[in-house]
Amino acid sequence: MVARVIPVDPFDLVIFGATGDLARRKILPALCRRHADGQMPDDARIIGAARTEMDRDAFLAMVSEAFDEFLGDHAPGPDCRASFFERLDYVAVDALGEDGWTALSDTLRDGVVRAFYFSVGPSLFGPLAERLGQHGMVTAETRIVVEKPFGHDLETARVLNQTLAAHFDETQIYRIDHYLGKETVQNLMAVRFANILFEPLWNARFVDHVQITVAETVGVGGRGPYYDKSGAMRDMVQNHLMQLLCLIAMEPPHSFEPDAVRDEKLKVIRALDPVRADDIVRGQYGAGAESPSYLVEVENPQSLTESYIALKVGISNWRWKGTPFYLRTGKRLRARASEIAVTFRDPPHSIFGEDAPWKANILVIRLQPDEGMTLKVMIKEPGPGGMRLKDVALDMSFAEALGDDVPIPDAYERLIMDVIRGNQTLFMRGDEVEAAWAWTDPIIAGWQKSADRPRTYDPGSSGPEDALMLMHRDGRRWREIR
Ligand code: BG6
Repeated sequence: MVARVIPVDPFDLVIFGATGDLARRKILPALCRRHADGQMPDDARIIGAARTEMDRDAFLAMVSEAFDEFLGDHAPGPDCRASFFERLDYVAVDALGEDGWTALSDTLRDGVVRAFYFSVGPSLFGPLAERLGQHGMVTAETRIVVEKPFGHDLETARVLNQTLAAHFDETQIYRIDHYLGKETVQNLMAVRFANILFEPLWNARFVDHVQITVAETVGVGGRGPYYDKSGAMRDMVQNHLMQLLCLIAMEPPHSFEPDAVRDEKLKVIRALDPVRADDIVRGQYGAGAESPSYLVEVENPQSLTESYIALKVGISNWRWKGTPFYLRTGKRLRARASEIAVTFRDPPHSIFGEDAPWKANILVIRLQPDEGMTLKVMIKEPGPGGMRLKDVALDMSFAEALGDDVPIPDAYERLIMDVIRGNQTLFMRGDEVEAAWAWTDPIIAGWQKSADRPRTYDPGSSGPEDALMLMHRDGRRWREIR
């Protein structure tokens, strides 16, 4: 099967922070793949901007090295790379000074989409926005892209929103949560709203509980200084897991228009209950045979920051009251496995007698790896000897269903093209981010007050033992991480 590619309009894309990790690892490879697929018009241009003084050739050499490392499977061939490089340029710019701004302004064309990607720390968002304004670079066709973390708490997020709002209209601001760009995450909406099957059952009357798991095998690596100030709650729950929860829990939007979807997500966030202290388990990975402990990795022996968190979340609205959502995410766990499991309630009465083994219907949506869906259903076990029941899986892997030769695009490919198209559906609105922080802040303040240590867990395990209790005491179990 061949994926359909709809070309975008001509554009100038400026990447601030073009020499940084994200640009080299994600943004530039994503652009190269879109180029390879023929999605970019001939006159689309990409301009790297960073403080480092270097000429265009040196920038191309840097990008080339990054591609060798990060383009991965389905890498475009040398001719394709060469034609992509023709689109690239580089300007040295000082975000906090005057250097380079006139040169940058001179490279931009009028009459095409202009996108500025702020692939820099949030402390530079304000200065960059200001400089763009001062140098007359903001046109009606201008968009800016900002990366997470969008603030550290509600207060800082508000200040950031105000700073950006002083220079840009909300319709020009694209706040990235790369989870929304993942194919399988978008598929959540397709599953829910393009099928009649699930929606009538999608509520507290029929759903017993929902589990959302984002498990990683990596540790914090070289990101210790950032991560130790954030922890799993700020780094993952406030944004990625929150977005997943919203897509599962929201009411059907009336259309796929940006505000129709974002209005519904916002309503979910506002309906989230505060989380009680005993509905939270935090963990920190210890040392393994070949891996250092969290405390060693972040070089902070006293750190109370969590690299794992599990929590039980309630939603106070008509659809979900009484159906808990269990969320967990952590680093250095047994496997890289992200999934959403919707467990349905038991049928109200068994015509097969009380002894028939009940196994709940479960819809599992696997986000990564091995993207796909499984629906657990009960059937009769074949053979004579009475009515014996058995649960089996209706299993669908996207690779098998769609063909292995259709690569699942990286989230950034979709998201950057959406910026050029001017489609904000998969980006977070300012009020959404603030509402997410308004829910997160008191939870964090709660454990900071108690100064409890996170539980230590073994690397390669499924997290701290206490997290099991979070579900056991409700008569439920986590699904295995594997
Ligand atoms: C990032 C977090 O936003 O998402 C990282 O800052 C995390 O800590 C990453 O590892 C996970 O993304 P993915 O796409 O690998 O699941």
